[in-house]
Amino acid sequence: MRIGLPKESRAGETRVAITPEGARKLLKKQFSIVAEKDVGLLSGFPDSEYPSEVEWSDAKTAFAADVVLKINRPTDNEVALFKPNAVLITQIEPFRKDGLLDLLAKANVTTLGMELIPRIPRAQAMDVLSSQANISGYRSVIEAAAQYGKFFPLMMTAAGSSKPAKIMVLGAGVAGLQAVATARRLGAIVEAYDVRSEVKEQIQSLGAKFVELDIGEDGSGQGGYAKELSDAAKARLAEQLNDRLKKCDIIITTANIPGRKAPIMIPEEVVKAMRPGSVIVDLAAPTGGNCALTEPDKVVSVNGVKIIGYTNLPAMLPSEASNFYSNNLIALIDLLIADQQPVRLNLEQQDDIIKAILVTRNGDVLHP
Ligand SMILES: NC(=O)c1ccc[n+]([C@@H]2O[C@H](COP(=O)([O-])OP(=O)(O)OC[C@H]3O[C@@H](n4cnc5c(N)ncnc54)[C@H](O)[C@@H]3O)[C@@H](O)[C@H]2O)c1
Repeated sequence: MRIGLPKESRAGETRVAITPEGARKLLKKQFSIVAEKDVGLLSGFPDSEYPSEVEWSDAKTAFAADVVLKINRPTDNEVALFKPNAVLITQIEPFRKDGLLDLLAKANVTTLGMELIPRIPRAQAMDVLSSQANISGYRSVIEAAAQYGKFFPLMMTAAGSSKPAKIMVLGAGVAGLQAVATARRLGAIVEAYDVRSEVKEQIQSLGAKFVELDIGEDGSGQGGYAKELSDAAKARLAEQLNDRLKKCDIIITTANIPGRKAPIMIPEEVVKAMRPGSVIVDLAAPTGGNCALTEPDKVVSVNGVKIIGYTNLPAMLPSEASNFYSNNLIALIDLLIADQQPVRLNLEQQDDIIKAILVTRNGDVLHP
């Protein structure tokens, strides 16, 4: 079975789906690999680091393989390059209603969506949402530190002293908890809030304060995710949170609700009341943003407050992000392998993980 590894065409993407180490593992499992030239260059992996058995070619040949491995969903033009009955494994963004899934189904491509891997212990090694969110959480703090014109830790020197930065993290999922941990390591005073009160102990175990608010309901939804709050709860949340936010030096927001637009947690009024020099990093920028003034992929300045809206922070640590993603893919392929001689994949739906991630199959769109 031939695996195709095309270069990512999305602007600003620097990651590669399979690293040289990943390629070695796939070859051991009896796959052959055809890759587009320079596929890993932007992630720090030149072609020369890939095993010599990899065949180097162009995008057309890489997309025409039996199994195509990618980071981002293909463009419509790229879909035309797939052969019928090919398998595509990528982050597919299944909630976007732009006709891509219909196009893949029509082309008879079997599509597996990496971000649909269920958040269950058995699937942890395949969980790209976690592996990439962890990197986003870390990088959000580095970006904040770079834009913030002061120290994070308490500094006492012969030439003067400075107070530690006060940081608020909104949403304590995978990215939020990593942001808390990273900001604490840099010596900031960190508080965090989440509508799911079960995260209180996790926040405290990282040396941060859990902000307890009475919003009249618990925000826990299905599968460990948050649910959309009622209008009354949203109003109570804003009433209790806004004054605290105005006093923060840095706010890192990660609040998301699966399949929906991100909730607005920082209205314009809060931004305008923050001290000039403060920084907001909006990790929800790809789903609309938690700050009303966020602009995707830009750093905007409002009254001296900087709002960072980068939508692809993992691409700013491309070799680590690619390593994690490649390991996630290999773990999934291990589950999919039905036979070794010759290698064959099992794409039947009996397994809960496979069932959850099958997006198109046999000409149909399966994702609801
Ligand atoms: N294998 C596993 O078992 C596994 C792996 C990873 C994550 N998880 C769980 O999956 C869940 C989702 O994690 P995620 O990082 O993908 O979350 P996410 O990206 O969907 O959301 C980020 C955080 O925002 C919070 N949030 C939503 N609306 C909010 C609001 N109005 N105010 C404040 N916070 C708000 C959510 O509760 C969540 O913690 C978590 O429960 C996590 O522990 C399980």
